[in-house]
Amino acid sequence: MNEIKKQRVLSGMRPSGKLHLGHLAGALKNWVDLQKEYQCFYFVADWHALTTEYADPANIYNDAREMVVDWLSCGIDPEQSVIFVQSHIREHAEFHLLLSMFTPIPWLERCPSYKELQKELDQKDLHTYGFLGYPVLQAADILIYRAHKVPVGEDQLPHLELTRDIARRFNYLYGERLVVPEPMITAYPRVPGIDGRKMSKSYGNSIYLSDPEPVVREKIQRMVTDPARAYRKDPGNPDVCILYNLHKIYTPEEIRNRIRPECRSAAIGCTDCKEELLRFLIPAMEPIWKKREEILKDPDVFLKITRAGDQKALASAQETMKIVREAMKINY
Ligand code: TRP
Ligand code: SF4
Repeated sequence: MNEIKKQRVLSGMRPSGKLHLGHLAGALKNWVDLQKEYQCFYFVADWHALTTEYADPANIYNDAREMVVDWLSCGIDPEQSVIFVQSHIREHAEFHLLLSMFTPIPWLERCPSYKELQKELDQKDLHTYGFLGYPVLQAADILIYRAHKVPVGEDQLPHLELTRDIARRFNYLYGERLVVPEPMITAYPRVPGIDGRKMSKSYGNSIYLSDPEPVVREKIQRMVTDPARAYRKDPGNPDVCILYNLHKIYTPEEIRNRIRPECRSAAIGCTDCKEELLRFLIPAMEPIWKKREEILKDPDVFLKITRAGDQKALASAQETMKIVREAMKINY
């Protein structure tokens, strides 16, 4: 690891299996870019997955493996970054326990994600101790590595705010020991799924990074466009076209400037327009596919990479826990 990179970045994802274009545009691209400037720690938040999947944890290992293979395919580089598994660093659990001693319950009940997710996943019983403590565990993840910056989506901002409050409370009670981290919010483009709703595994509308080229082509050809264009001769409107959102991400501006009037005048049809998109989308995915093939030559790549990452993460976590135990007088 390059020690000249001073500031530390940390982020995690719950193991969600195969990643799709939404993950790439929303988080992964940013994670890859941050590696140049920061010392990055990226981890599989498998204990966080258990807070909602506790009744059916059978998929966690496979989902973690698939997710990390996708990270690596996109250019998360184990030479530059520490890639590890949360549950392998037991210190997170100890720290979570210690932080829970002084985290007021109303801070957790007030957290918007608490009630929202409970409502959203209403078929699961989330009135659990573990789920209420979700943000405390997240605070432990972040504070244990003394991370300066935490790249997250906007939905995670309340958790970051809570992490900062917990860090400040610790520092107030036991002396200035913890780094108060800053969220790093990047403006993410909206990535629609092929049915027009947000791209999401649970909607079955995703284009996966591991989809082979013919599957990507077929999905794009099936994707919804401007519903007003029922016939080839009907003029369209890129401003309301779902597919056009992908053009905004993948197609160069000068090409888009040509497509827009051609859509409005029905000079091109949606099938032609989709072919234009594929001219840029496929080359954008090709390096990911190549890398993936290379990575999967080693069937143990997930365990090898994360075991090595775990060691580095552990060393760092142990340093912080030593300070924390001393500060909380629980080091005798
Ligand atoms: N809660 C985050 C999510 O659902 C995942 C996560 C867990 C995380 N611990 C973290 C993100 C620490 C950033 C830092 O996306
Ligand atoms: Fe959308 Fe292109 Fe069809 Fe216009 S021509 S409606 S931009 S897919």
